[in-house]
Amino acid sequence: QHPGWPAHLGPVRVGAGAVTLRPVRLRDAAAWSRIRLREHDHLEPWEPTGRGAWEARNHPSNWPPLWSSLKAEARRGAMIPLVIEVDGAFGGQLTVGNIVRGALRSAWIGYWVTRDLGGRGVATAALALGLDHCFGPVGLHRVEATVRPENLASQAVLRNVGFREEGLLRRYLDVDGAWRDHLLVAMTAEELSGRVVDRLAREGRLTLR
Ligand code: ACO
Repeated sequence: QHPGWPAHLGPVRVGAGAVTLRPVRLRDAAAWSRIRLREHDHLEPWEPTGRGAWEARNHPSNWPPLWSSLKAEARRGAMIPLVIEVDGAFGGQLTVGNIVRGALRSAWIGYWVTRDLGGRGVATAALALGLDHCFGPVGLHRVEATVRPENLASQAVLRNVGFREEGLLRRYLDVDGAWRDHLLVAMTAEELSGRVVDRLAREGRLTLR
Protein backbone atom coordinates (compact mmCIF):
# COMPACT_ATOMS: atom_id res chain seq x y z
CA GLN A 1 0.00 0.00 0.00
CA HIS A 2 1.08 3.57 -0.64
CA PRO A 3 1.01 6.32 1.98
CA GLY A 4 -2.46 7.81 2.16
CA TRP A 5 -4.29 4.96 0.39
CA PRO A 6 -6.95 3.82 1.06
CA ALA A 7 -8.31 7.01 2.58
CA HIS A 8 -11.37 7.76 4.71
CA LEU A 9 -11.49 11.50 5.42
CA GLY A 10 -13.79 13.70 7.47
CA PRO A 11 -16.46 14.22 8.53
CA VAL A 12 -16.68 18.00 8.50
CA ARG A 13 -20.03 19.72 8.58
CA VAL A 14 -21.24 22.38 6.10
CA GLY A 15 -24.66 23.79 5.16
CA ALA A 16 -25.50 20.76 3.02
CA GLY A 17 -24.64 18.18 5.73
CA ALA A 18 -21.73 16.03 6.91
CA VAL A 19 -19.02 15.72 4.24
CA THR A 20 -16.81 12.62 4.13
CA LEU A 21 -14.49 11.16 1.49
CA ARG A 22 -13.93 7.45 0.90
CA PRO A 23 -12.46 5.22 -1.85
CA VAL A 24 -14.52 4.56 -4.98
CA ARG A 25 -16.50 1.29 -4.78
CA LEU A 26 -17.77 -1.12 -7.42
CA ARG A 27 -21.30 -0.66 -6.08
CA ASP A 28 -21.19 3.10 -6.81
CA ALA A 29 -22.28 2.33 -10.39
CA ALA A 30 -25.98 3.14 -9.98
CA ALA A 31 -25.57 6.41 -8.06
CA TRP A 32 -22.65 7.56 -10.21
CA SER A 33 -24.55 6.92 -13.45
CA ARG A 34 -27.91 8.30 -12.28
CA ILE A 35 -26.39 11.63 -11.20
CA ARG A 36 -24.12 12.00 -14.22
CA LEU A 37 -26.89 11.25 -16.73
CA ARG A 38 -29.19 13.72 -14.95
CA GLU A 39 -26.50 16.43 -14.77
CA HIS A 40 -25.02 16.19 -18.24
CA ASP A 41 -25.21 19.97 -18.82
CA HIS A 42 -23.74 20.76 -15.36
CA LEU A 43 -20.69 18.54 -15.81
CA GLU A 44 -19.74 18.27 -19.48
CA PRO A 45 -18.41 21.85 -19.99
CA TRP A 46 -15.65 21.22 -17.45
CA GLU A 47 -14.60 17.64 -18.12
CA PRO A 48 -12.03 16.10 -20.49
CA THR A 49 -13.54 15.15 -23.83
CA GLY A 50 -14.46 11.48 -23.90
CA ARG A 51 -15.05 9.11 -26.78
CA GLY A 52 -18.66 8.52 -27.68
CA ALA A 53 -21.87 10.07 -26.41
CA TRP A 54 -22.26 11.23 -22.79
CA GLU A 55 -25.13 8.75 -22.26
CA ALA A 56 -22.95 5.83 -23.32
CA ARG A 57 -19.90 6.97 -21.35
CA ASN A 58 -21.91 7.42 -18.18
CA HIS A 59 -24.02 4.26 -18.43
CA PRO A 60 -23.80 2.07 -15.27
CA SER A 61 -21.93 -0.58 -17.29
CA ASN A 62 -19.06 1.86 -17.75
CA TRP A 63 -18.39 2.17 -14.03
CA PRO A 64 -16.78 -1.28 -13.40
CA PRO A 65 -13.93 -0.75 -15.93
CA LEU A 66 -13.48 2.86 -14.78
CA TRP A 67 -13.51 1.78 -11.12
CA SER A 68 -11.02 -0.96 -11.90
CA SER A 69 -8.56 1.39 -13.64
CA LEU A 70 -8.88 3.98 -10.83
CA LYS A 71 -8.14 1.26 -8.25
CA ALA A 72 -5.17 0.02 -10.25
CA GLU A 73 -3.73 3.56 -10.38
CA ALA A 74 -4.36 3.92 -6.65
CA ARG A 75 -2.60 0.63 -5.91
CA ARG A 76 0.49 1.74 -7.78
CA GLY A 77 0.50 5.02 -5.85
CA ALA A 78 -0.31 7.33 -8.77
CA MET A 79 -3.86 8.29 -7.81
CA ILE A 80 -6.27 8.75 -4.91
CA PRO A 81 -9.80 8.30 -6.33
CA LEU A 82 -12.43 9.27 -3.74
CA VAL A 83 -16.19 9.63 -3.57
CA ILE A 84 -17.57 12.70 -1.79
CA GLU A 85 -20.43 11.67 0.47
CA VAL A 86 -22.90 14.07 2.07
CA ASP A 87 -24.80 12.55 5.00
CA GLY A 88 -23.70 9.17 3.68
CA ALA A 89 -25.03 9.63 0.12
CA PHE A 90 -22.99 9.84 -3.10
CA GLY A 91 -22.47 13.57 -3.73
CA GLY A 92 -19.59 13.71 -6.22
CA GLN A 93 -15.96 12.76 -6.69
CA LEU A 94 -12.59 14.13 -5.66
CA THR A 95 -9.52 12.73 -7.38
CA VAL A 96 -5.83 13.26 -6.76
CA GLY A 97 -3.91 12.29 -9.87
CA ASN A 98 -0.45 12.11 -11.39
CA ILE A 99 1.17 11.62 -8.00
CA VAL A 100 4.89 11.84 -8.61
CA ARG A 101 7.38 11.18 -5.84
CA GLY A 102 11.16 11.66 -5.71
CA ALA A 103 12.32 15.26 -5.93
CA LEU A 104 8.93 16.50 -7.22
CA ARG A 105 6.40 15.09 -4.68
CA SER A 106 3.55 16.67 -6.59
CA ALA A 107 0.03 15.89 -7.84
CA TRP A 108 -3.08 17.49 -9.34
CA ILE A 109 -6.48 17.58 -7.66
CA GLY A 110 -9.93 17.77 -9.27
CA TYR A 111 -13.57 17.37 -8.21
CA TRP A 112 -17.24 17.56 -9.11
CA VAL A 113 -20.30 17.92 -6.91
CA THR A 114 -23.91 17.17 -7.81
CA ARG A 115 -25.94 20.27 -8.65
CA ASP A 116 -28.62 19.73 -6.02
CA LEU A 117 -25.95 20.09 -3.30
CA GLY A 118 -24.46 23.18 -4.96
CA GLY A 119 -23.53 26.41 -3.21
CA ARG A 120 -23.58 24.93 0.28
CA GLY A 121 -19.88 24.40 0.86
CA VAL A 122 -19.51 20.75 -0.19
CA ALA A 123 -16.73 21.24 -2.76
CA THR A 124 -14.84 23.62 -0.47
CA ALA A 125 -15.01 21.12 2.41
CA ALA A 126 -14.05 18.15 0.23
CA LEU A 127 -11.11 20.00 -1.28
CA ALA A 128 -9.89 21.06 2.18
CA LEU A 129 -10.03 17.44 3.38
CA GLY A 130 -8.24 16.30 0.22
CA LEU A 131 -5.48 18.88 0.56
CA ASP A 132 -4.86 18.09 4.23
CA HIS A 133 -4.55 14.45 3.23
CA CYS A 134 -2.10 15.26 0.39
CA PHE A 135 0.14 17.41 2.57
CA GLY A 136 -0.25 15.06 5.57
CA PRO A 137 -0.28 11.26 5.15
CA VAL A 138 0.48 11.29 1.39
CA GLY A 139 3.56 13.43 2.01
CA LEU A 140 3.33 15.74 -1.01
CA HIS A 141 5.13 19.06 -1.31
CA ARG A 142 3.00 20.61 -4.06
CA VAL A 143 -0.59 20.23 -5.22
CA GLU A 144 -1.85 21.93 -8.36
CA ALA A 145 -5.19 22.33 -10.10
CA THR A 146 -6.28 23.64 -13.49
CA VAL A 147 -9.58 25.38 -14.09
CA ARG A 148 -11.22 27.03 -17.09
CA PRO A 149 -11.37 30.84 -16.80
CA GLU A 150 -15.14 30.53 -17.42
CA ASN A 151 -15.60 28.29 -14.35
CA LEU A 152 -16.14 30.98 -11.74
CA ALA A 153 -17.69 28.67 -9.12
CA SER A 154 -14.67 26.34 -9.18
CA GLN A 155 -12.28 29.30 -9.03
CA ALA A 156 -14.12 30.48 -5.90
CA VAL A 157 -13.69 27.01 -4.36
CA LEU A 158 -9.95 27.01 -5.16
CA ARG A 159 -9.55 30.51 -3.67
CA ASN A 160 -11.51 29.49 -0.55
CA VAL A 161 -8.98 26.79 0.31
CA GLY A 162 -5.93 28.95 -0.41
CA PHE A 163 -4.73 28.10 -3.93
CA ARG A 164 -2.50 30.73 -5.55
CA GLU A 165 -2.71 31.51 -9.28
CA GLU A 166 0.41 30.74 -11.28
CA GLY A 167 -0.60 31.51 -14.85
CA LEU A 168 -2.72 30.85 -17.90
CA LEU A 169 -2.08 27.65 -19.86
CA ARG A 170 -3.07 28.26 -23.47
CA ARG A 171 -5.14 25.55 -25.20
CA TYR A 172 -4.02 23.24 -22.39
CA LEU A 173 -6.64 20.51 -22.22
CA ASP A 174 -9.15 18.85 -24.54
CA VAL A 175 -12.33 19.68 -22.64
CA ASP A 176 -15.92 19.59 -23.93
CA GLY A 177 -14.77 19.00 -27.49
CA ALA A 178 -12.01 21.61 -27.93
CA TRP A 179 -8.57 22.69 -26.67
CA ARG A 180 -9.35 25.03 -23.78
CA ASP A 181 -7.26 27.60 -21.92
CA HIS A 182 -6.87 26.79 -18.21
CA LEU A 183 -5.69 28.77 -15.21
CA LEU A 184 -2.99 26.94 -13.27
CA VAL A 185 -3.25 27.28 -9.49
CA ALA A 186 -0.99 25.66 -6.93
CA MET A 187 -0.06 25.37 -3.29
CA THR A 188 3.13 24.15 -1.64
CA ALA A 189 3.60 22.83 1.88
CA GLU A 190 5.39 26.01 3.01
CA GLU A 191 2.27 28.06 2.29
CA LEU A 192 0.20 26.18 4.85
CA SER A 193 0.04 27.11 8.48
CA GLY A 194 -1.66 24.09 9.99
CA ARG A 195 -4.55 22.21 8.41
CA VAL A 196 -6.80 23.81 5.79
CA VAL A 197 -9.93 22.48 7.56
CA ASP A 198 -8.87 24.25 10.78
CA ARG A 199 -8.51 27.58 8.95
CA LEU A 200 -11.91 27.12 7.27
CA ALA A 201 -13.44 26.29 10.66
CA ARG A 202 -11.99 29.52 12.10
CA GLU A 203 -13.48 31.41 9.13
CA GLY A 204 -16.88 29.85 9.88
CA ARG A 205 -17.05 27.94 6.57
CA LEU A 206 -17.37 24.51 8.22
CA THR A 207 -17.43 22.85 11.60
CA LEU A 208 -15.22 19.95 12.68
CA ARG A 209 -16.81 16.81 14.06
N1 ACO B 1 -19.75 33.12 -10.13
C1 ACO B 1 -18.90 33.31 -9.11
N2 ACO B 1 -18.88 32.54 -8.00
C2 ACO B 1 -19.80 31.55 -7.94
C3 ACO B 1 -20.73 31.29 -8.97
C4 ACO B 1 -20.68 32.14 -10.10
N3 ACO B 1 -21.51 31.96 -11.12
N4 ACO B 1 -21.49 30.25 -8.60
C5 ACO B 1 -21.06 29.85 -7.39
N5 ACO B 1 -20.06 30.66 -6.99
C6 ACO B 1 -19.28 30.56 -5.77
C7 ACO B 1 -20.08 30.51 -4.49
O1 ACO B 1 -20.41 31.80 -4.04
C8 ACO B 1 -19.09 29.81 -3.57
O2 ACO B 1 -18.05 30.68 -3.15
P1 ACO B 1 -18.09 31.31 -1.65
O3 ACO B 1 -18.17 30.16 -0.71
O4 ACO B 1 -16.80 32.04 -1.55
O5 ACO B 1 -19.31 32.17 -1.61
C9 ACO B 1 -18.43 28.83 -4.50
O6 ACO B 1 -18.64 29.31 -5.83
C10 ACO B 1 -19.03 27.44 -4.40
O7 ACO B 1 -18.51 26.82 -3.24
P2 ACO B 1 -19.06 25.42 -2.75
O8 ACO B 1 -20.48 25.53 -2.28
O9 ACO B 1 -18.05 24.86 -1.82
O10 ACO B 1 -19.01 24.57 -4.11
P3 ACO B 1 -20.10 23.52 -4.67
O11 ACO B 1 -20.25 22.42 -3.70
O12 ACO B 1 -21.28 24.24 -5.16
O13 ACO B 1 -19.28 22.95 -5.94
C11 ACO B 1 -18.36 23.01 -8.15
C12 ACO B 1 -18.74 23.82 -6.91
C13 ACO B 1 -17.37 21.92 -7.77
C14 ACO B 1 -17.72 23.94 -9.17
C15 ACO B 1 -19.66 22.34 -8.74
O14 ACO B 1 -20.54 23.34 -9.18
C16 ACO B 1 -19.39 21.40 -9.90
O15 ACO B 1 -19.14 20.22 -9.68
N6 ACO B 1 -19.42 21.91 -11.14
C17 ACO B 1 -19.27 21.10 -12.33
C18 ACO B 1 -17.92 20.39 -12.43
C19 ACO B 1 -16.77 21.31 -12.16
O16 ACO B 1 -16.76 22.48 -12.54
N7 ACO B 1 -15.73 20.81 -11.48
C20 ACO B 1 -14.50 21.57 -11.20
C21 ACO B 1 -13.57 21.52 -12.37
S1 ACO B 1 -12.05 22.40 -12.06
C22 ACO B 1 -11.17 21.40 -10.97
O17 ACO B 1 -11.56 20.28 -10.74
C23 ACO B 1 -9.91 21.95 -10.35
